[in-house]
Amino acid sequence: MNIRKLMVWAICMLSIASLHAKINWLEIEPGVWKGVVGTPEDYSLLTAAGCSPAHDGFARLPHVELPTLANNIVGEVNDGKTNLRIPLDKGEQLYGFGLNFQTVHQRGKILNLHVDHYGGKDTGRTHAPVPFYISSAGYGVFVNSARYLTVYAGSGARKDSENAPIAKDRNTDKSWSARPYSDAVSILVPAQGVEVYVIAGPTPMDVVRRYNLLCGGGTLPPRWGLGFTQRTQKLYDAKDVEYEVDEFERMGYPLDFIGLEPGWQSKSYPCSFEWDKSRFPDPSGFVSKMLDKKVRINLWTNPYISPESDVYKEMYPVSGSHTVWCGIVPDLAHEKARSLWNDKLEREHINIGVSGYKIDEVDGYDFYIWPDVATFPSGISAEQMRQTYGLWVQRTSTDLYRKRNQRTFGLVRASNAGGNAMPYVIYNDYYSHQDFITALINSGFSGVLWTPEVRGSKTGEEWLRRFQSVVFSPMAMINAWASGTKPWSFPEVADQVKEYSLLRMQMMPYWYTEFARYHFDGIPPFRAMNLEPGFNPNEAVKTELTSGNLEDNPYLEAVTKEIKDQYMAGEYLLVAPMFAGQTLRKVVLPKGNWYDFYTGEYVGNGETIEVSPGLDRIPVYVKDGGIIPMMMPRLHAPRLGEKFDLEIRHYGDADGAYRLYDDDGETYNYEKGEYSWRDIKVERQKNGKLKGTFSKAEKGKPNNIGNVSWKFMTQK
Ligand code: GAL
Repeated sequence: MNIRKLMVWAICMLSIASLHAKINWLEIEPGVWKGVVGTPEDYSLLTAAGCSPAHDGFARLPHVELPTLANNIVGEVNDGKTNLRIPLDKGEQLYGFGLNFQTVHQRGKILNLHVDHYGGKDTGRTHAPVPFYISSAGYGVFVNSARYLTVYAGSGARKDSENAPIAKDRNTDKSWSARPYSDAVSILVPAQGVEVYVIAGPTPMDVVRRYNLLCGGGTLPPRWGLGFTQRTQKLYDAKDVEYEVDEFERMGYPLDFIGLEPGWQSKSYPCSFEWDKSRFPDPSGFVSKMLDKKVRINLWTNPYISPESDVYKEMYPVSGSHTVWCGIVPDLAHEKARSLWNDKLEREHINIGVSGYKIDEVDGYDFYIWPDVATFPSGISAEQMRQTYGLWVQRTSTDLYRKRNQRTFGLVRASNAGGNAMPYVIYNDYYSHQDFITALINSGFSGVLWTPEVRGSKTGEEWLRRFQSVVFSPMAMINAWASGTKPWSFPEVADQVKEYSLLRMQMMPYWYTEFARYHFDGIPPFRAMNLEPGFNPNEAVKTELTSGNLEDNPYLEAVTKEIKDQYMAGEYLLVAPMFAGQTLRKVVLPKGNWYDFYTGEYVGNGETIEVSPGLDRIPVYVKDGGIIPMMMPRLHAPRLGEKFDLEIRHYGDADGAYRLYDDDGETYNYEKGEYSWRDIKVERQKNGKLKGTFSKAEKGKPNNIGNVSWKFMTQK
């Protein structure tokens, strides 16, 4: 070998060695470390989302050191792809990996994280396949790649593992398993490098908080977004919508925004973005009339542009190579396409007072969305575009409203990491009530919001059961685009439906505060029991455990024991939905005293209870010392500057403390410090009675609170 060849060889060896090297971790926010493997691509989930960390929130989390496992994370570039290996201990469980519908525990799964509609199985193809997971050991890992990732979430065993499974003889050993234990999560990134983040806890909840803060903090909807919303039948015209809005008022059902489905547009699938003048002859007059009735308008659309739209021609050069239903696909990673899209939305809708959108079909179905061979003028690949298109539609439309200092709240069918602060809720057509609840639980691990929307039902019982759950979710919605159903369509349960829709309104101060905590502190408003201190599913269901070889398969064990039909709604509430046909259910209570939400009665402590609440009630329980600030039942959210009275409820025996969030409810002025947190305290007095205090409004800060009354729900 001559000297030149020798040098080339040495350089090659050195670079191979460096590709195998352990990762250097750089702390970029308190408790968040970034590592680089190979050469990461410029385009990532976080760049597409355009988010920046919410620094202030980190200061309210405990100080932590780099988790020791970080030093054992290995990244290597091989065959043009990046492999990551993150060690796992035997007892660890994994949560997250995006919006899964069927299980809360993810260990043992093999997932192809790929934006898609939900096809009925947790394969990784979902509306928000967020490449972030949380370990029960109190750390998390986020892979900032806009590629389709393959995740072996504790599957596949290396021959040189220090912790390798032991070979067993299937002939004679009953504990033989087809899926032997694996001591690592392996992730395949089809690119020559990637950015990885290790996020510390110490608790899994702290990990989730840090992740949300890294991605800009959670969204803070306008107050009206937390009211009730109805989506009308798809071919309704202006008169039909007006009639429906009046019906809500007349019948005494709350309504804050109403959604128009495809028929408002002159062309849909692909879309013109223009009003159908035969159904809506005077769009501006129509929108103002609705606003006068205190009902905002939300418009359904998909982003694919019809040849008949007046923006088609100009958009053509900045659209992708392939069409969707013969409509062009704006390349939203391209500035020109964004500005054309924005101008169109502004001109046709926002300038006349439309309050938000439902942006459909950005998740896809391979048979109609652009194929992976498509190209885009911005140079972003079809794969990257698929992974991030949901982010782009949210980002651009949010920016339009932000520019007007106006908050929006809408619906979208795809999102990804970095969309955390975007005011959108995910939905789909799958319609399994049970799986919708599991999705709600999993949304809290992934920085997205999900609504278990109600569409239609076979019976009044199913209608009410579904309705009761959607009231305890980020968006209380009936989506009647196909069914035309109204809240009162099942007369036998119409009163109960009304009671729950009004309860949703009464609870607005609580919901609003919980969303503020999401925004400022990264605490997801709807989340798994697994993030709740004192929750131990293993303890609660140990009698149901089968024994045998499960120890080798922690994932199987977890799935047999997991609780995927009850969740936490904010700081104090445990919600345990009932499903049609069910009269009895189990509820696993975390440690501590728990009380019935409706009566204030004690129900248990750290145990599994069986409840049969009857059709009128969805079981909801409150933590000891729980404080739920409520307002009077009403049909519309308070308007900007409108004062409202509070009824503050206290539950249980313990003293309570809560901070109520307040701001103008509609603008972004809170970003300039125009908000307040007011202390609510309930303390037991020497005479044994409970007494509540509410701190004064700070001078110069928003104050929407009128009179305050107290209700001590638990009588001794
Ligand atoms: C579906 C969407 C429904 C409804 C419908 C209208 O894609 O999921 O909620 O909007 O389109 O055609």
